[in-house]
Amino acid sequence: MNKNDRANFGSKLGVILASAGSAVGLGNIWRFPYETGNHGGAAFIIIYLGCILLLGLPIMISEFLIGRHSRANTAAAYQILAPKTHWRWVGRMGVLAGLLILSYYSVVAGWTLEYITEALTNSFSGKSSADFIASFQGFSSNPWKPVLWLIVFLLATHFIIVKGVEKGIEKSSKIMMPMLFIIILVLVVCSVTLPGAQSGIEFLLKPDFSKVDGSVFLGAMGQAFFSLSLGMGCLCTYASYFGKDTNLTKTAFSVGVIDTVVAVLAGFIIFPAAFSVGIKPDAGPSLVFITLPNVFQQAFGSIPVLAYVFSVMFYVLLAVAALTSTISLHEVVTAYLHEEFKFTRGKAAKIVTGSCIFFGIFCSLSLGVGKEYTLFGLGLFDLFDFVTAKIMLPLGGLLISLFTGWYLDKKIVWEEVSNQGTLRMPLYKVFIFILKFIAPIAISFIFINELGLLR
Ligand code: PFF
Repeated sequence: MNKNDRANFGSKLGVILASAGSAVGLGNIWRFPYETGNHGGAAFIIIYLGCILLLGLPIMISEFLIGRHSRANTAAAYQILAPKTHWRWVGRMGVLAGLLILSYYSVVAGWTLEYITEALTNSFSGKSSADFIASFQGFSSNPWKPVLWLIVFLLATHFIIVKGVEKGIEKSSKIMMPMLFIIILVLVVCSVTLPGAQSGIEFLLKPDFSKVDGSVFLGAMGQAFFSLSLGMGCLCTYASYFGKDTNLTKTAFSVGVIDTVVAVLAGFIIFPAAFSVGIKPDAGPSLVFITLPNVFQQAFGSIPVLAYVFSVMFYVLLAVAALTSTISLHEVVTAYLHEEFKFTRGKAAKIVTGSCIFFGIFCSLSLGVGKEYTLFGLGLFDLFDFVTAKIMLPLGGLLISLFTGWYLDKKIVWEEVSNQGTLRMPLYKVFIFILKFIAPIAISFIFINELGLLR
């Protein structure tokens, strides 16, 4: 395909909303609150912000410049910028990571659809804490229901992907992202005005540094990677659809700010509500699916209609956020198959959707009937999560910073970040210094820690 025929995002707002749509997802609303809860609140958030600024933004700008300069899918990007070298494996690993993440992420995304229907049919009403635990465990280990929702979610993603970059990804992001902000704001206002919400707000704003140890620091870095969609060429693929005049630094900054604001606001929805009914913030991954419906019932028990509306809105929010992220994961693999193997875009998308349904079914079953089947002691769902989030993303981020910092011709780097010298770049030297030294060293630490080598 001629590079000039390649799809493009139609507007600057579209660029920002689509990239922010990729970043904002289950990572912000599901993972961030429980990580914050487990690591003591405000102090974790401060360290997280440091990681976003110091590591997240420079690596995001690197992915952007690699994608826009090569104007190709992430695997081809490295072949174009570093022909006949092993760097192409960085891109290929990203494609594989995209396929694996999409398979298990869609399982959790599918759960949000079940919870929307439960909320809509008012089935949370009158349930006790024990009922919520039992119904979540019963549902997630059921052999059929989660699989059906997983398929529905992947088909919705497929439908948007086959419409293409501008009419599918950009248009849907322009509708879904504003909707997401409105729902978040309404939910924050409801949550912080609950009686007793004050202690939840304090938990988020008053840092307790006595809780900070190495694991907090490293947990915050890992969260920053997952949340910003970094390390697997996702934003690199999106950047291949950016126009020449897109300001990469500004776009990265906007995406970083939106992603962080959504994560912190998700905290302001969950903690004030949880504290107001005396639920501990460190409930872990079940916070959103077990604790929260319980919180809605208890907090608004006297006004059932509010409990109803709050629950429906929350799970719609979670589903929309997940959808803009599954689209971006799907696009990484679809663009690769379409451009590398010359399949039509429709056929490439079908292969991706079909493979993710296949792997997703096994991931889902591994939480129920297939529990005994493990590899390295992990079921398939946990294995996919471990291998991607804990190995492939940090490794990808490490290699991307080394690639841009040490390998790539600095003329190309400068041309891209300064838009052919037309933008002022006062922090350019700091950017290169971070990529050369700080990011590789810091990421090596996360990596070693997460593999348990330091313990
Ligand atoms: N950033 C997404 C989230 O926070 O839910 C998850 C994700 C999307 C990770 C795309 C990686 C990726 F390439």
